[in-house]
Amino acid sequence: MTGIHDSSELCGDDCDYPTELALRTILLPRDTNAQGTIFGGVILAHIDLAGVVPVRKLNPARRFVTVAMNEIVFHEPVFVGDLCSFYAQVCKVGRTSVQVKVLVKVQRKDDSDGEEIRVTEAEVTYVAVDENRRPVPVLPASRR
Ligand SMILES: CC(C)(COP(=O)(O)OP(=O)(O)OC[C@H]1O[C@@H](n2cnc3c(N)ncnc32)[C@H](O)[C@@H]1OP(=O)(O)O)[C@@H](O)C(=O)NCCC(=O)NCCS
Repeated sequence: MTGIHDSSELCGDDCDYPTELALRTILLPRDTNAQGTIFGGVILAHIDLAGVVPVRKLNPARRFVTVAMNEIVFHEPVFVGDLCSFYAQVCKVGRTSVQVKVLVKVQRKDDSDGEEIRVTEAEVTYVAVDENRRPVPVLPASRR
């Protein structure tokens, strides 16, 4: 385990990049769908933000855009008042792209045990771009 969360739940035990708690929030009634649970699009927006947190650390001088979100699975609903934690880990650094796994867990509002339940996971790919929005290497030449 290289971070605050078990790598086996994110990119896998062989991954050398650290896991981290990238974002933690409580979602509100305004974030709900017609069923009264949290709208999946709101969770995806948070996943997008959380995933870029470890990516920026690879090269803070770069700007990154999201090119793809894959393998999105909503395992369990999220309810208003749940404490939502977004764990992120870089899985792979390509030439201009970075693949990240984001795992979302919640502590239910009324659960005094504070158990964390896996609710959503996704794989997100970001691309480093220049001022003309064209792909550029993620890492400087000295670190490639
Ligand atoms: C990201 C963007 C600049 C990439 O342009 P592109 O012409 O496809 O670039 P390339 O074909 O050279 O690919 C660049 C990298 O992205 C990866 N990539 C491209 N499409 C991908 C996809 N669908 N899934 C995963 N990776 C992808 C390539 O493998 C390559 O990675 P590598 O250099 O590490 O090998 C362009 O698609 C874009 O501007 N998209 C919109 C981004 C945006 O606005 N996002 C915000 C949400 S709307």
